[in-house]
Amino acid sequence: MIRTMKNRKLILAIETSCDDTCAAVVEPDGRRALSNVVHTQTEHDRYGGVVPEVASRAHLERIDGVIERSLADAGICLEDVDRVAVTVRPGLIGALLVGLSAAKGVAYARSLPLVPVNHLEGHVAAAYLADPDLEPPFVALIASGGHTALYAVDRDHDMHLLGETLDDAAGEALDKGARMLGLGFPGGPALQKAAQNGDRNRYDFPVALKGRDNLDFSFSGLKTSLLYKLKELGEERTRQELPHLAASYEAAVVEALVRKLTRAADIEDAPAVVVAGGVAANALLRRTLEEESVGLGAKLVIPPPELCTDNAAMIGAAAPYTPVIACPNYLSLNARSV
Ligand code: KG4
Ligand code: ZN
Repeated sequence: MIRTMKNRKLILAIETSCDDTCAAVVEPDGRRALSNVVHTQTEHDRYGGVVPEVASRAHLERIDGVIERSLADAGICLEDVDRVAVTVRPGLIGALLVGLSAAKGVAYARSLPLVPVNHLEGHVAAAYLADPDLEPPFVALIASGGHTALYAVDRDHDMHLLGETLDDAAGEALDKGARMLGLGFPGGPALQKAAQNGDRNRYDFPVALKGRDNLDFSFSGLKTSLLYKLKELGEERTRQELPHLAASYEAAVVEALVRKLTRAADIEDAPAVVVAGGVAANALLRRTLEEESVGLGAKLVIPPPELCTDNAAMIGAAAPYTPVIACPNYLSLNARSV
């Protein structure tokens, strides 16, 4: 391990809320990551979805090595760390507990404070790594596998819910759609790949609540409509039409997200718009929003794809805006699934 500078007051961040075992080292102001290690568990692939108990076990096997690598990649040692930030909610409870226990262990051993970070606030904070000059107020869209919601983020970094999905999350809709089409897991990237040479206008999948004057989303009707379409086409035609079905389905999810986000930015008269969460890695969504943002008059910040999907750098980036718990008061702290 290379030892560069002493007592650098860096943040060690840990994230294990789902199926990625992550650790990162972030600068004290949360605006730059010195390392960002993500180990994506492949154990779930054959089940077509994340199996909670398998995730906890895999985190347990990997977490020490991932933390060590995050320190080594940053060229630092634990003496350079002055806080440990960790995701405490929401997520898979067993998975969260592995990260929280590791964080407690590292922090307690060195009498460091602990920063309990909300995963969703972490996703939004990825924008500060992408644009270190960004300051609230702004409107943020979080679109991940478990959440789809719009927030107004105020000058104190507090998040106010503007609208959310009434049923499935956008990522969940992509994952389920991909599964119906016989594509791999996770579905978002698989669908994006399958859609590459497809015609987005071939099938008219519904965009729910698009006329409604609110900022909520709904994706369950879309999923049902794909199911009916596949039944109507039959196996052979579905195979032939796969790129077009994938492209049209992906386009419907993207349209719903873009519509409500631009409406929210308009209502809030937001000077900036942030897009976060795994689905923000989607190329069509990124391209469409870049085109729309010209007319929106708001600065658009979409972190690079590797900071949109789950990672620990974003958890470190949220740490400066999260109340710290002094040593040893966090020893009884629990994780929460919601
Ligand atoms: O934020 P994330 O990594 O984990 C959660 O907190 O849920 O988001 C995972 C979701 C999955 O549903 C996955 O299919 C989707 O993000 N996703 C994508 C892409 N990459 C990941 N969706 C569309 N296009 C992508 N390139
Ligand atoms: Zn996430």
